[in-house]
Amino acid sequence: MIKASDVLHKMQQANGVREDSSYFLTPDFPTDRSLENPVKNEEILSKLNDILRDELTAIHQYMVQAEICANWKYNKLHDAIETYARQEMVHAQKIIERMIFLDGMPEVGVLNPIDVGTDIESQFRNDFSSESDAIRTYNSGVALAASLGDNGTRELLESNLKEEEGHFDWLQAQLTQIDQMGIQNYLAEQGN
Ligand SMILES: [Fe+2]
Ligand SMILES: [Fe+2]
Repeated sequence: MIKASDVLHKMQQANGVREDSSYFLTPDFPTDRSLENPVKNEEILSKLNDILRDELTAIHQYMVQAEICANWKYNKLHDAIETYARQEMVHAQKIIERMIFLDGMPEVGVLNPIDVGTDIESQFRNDFSSESDAIRTYNSGVALAASLGDNGTRELLESNLKEEEGHFDWLQAQLTQIDQMGIQNYLAEQGN
């Protein structure tokens, strides 16, 4: 079986990298401090990774829930939740873009626990909790970015936050309707 060190050696040779450099860990780029991003900050990068983890988790949770709704032929709910999954994907994309601009490393392989729910109402309650957390995290990110004078990040977080508030508002309305008309009447309206 080929050893990892042999693969590394071959890649170093193929890429003209010195044998004594740690190719995978520290790219052998020149470090010119004059090229450093003036708003790069480890604290904001850590916050952006927290937000990214929330977004990636939300994408997975909404995608599964949307398909459950489709399977049960609650087509209106499928369409709404799929739209939210796509919006979360755009949020994640913008956070990744910003982190790379800030010379950071987006952590895309980590998720929070995913709570799909066992029926429509529990789906909504889980999402309501997730969106509430997202609003708090985004607001703390806005405050941090503002305190650091990083207005580009602040504007991005504010823009995403507005859409999280929209998701929260929709979920709050659905749970209110269920409370007012009962789950059976509510679900009777969610087909075609
Ligand atoms: Fe989001
Ligand atoms: Fe959201």
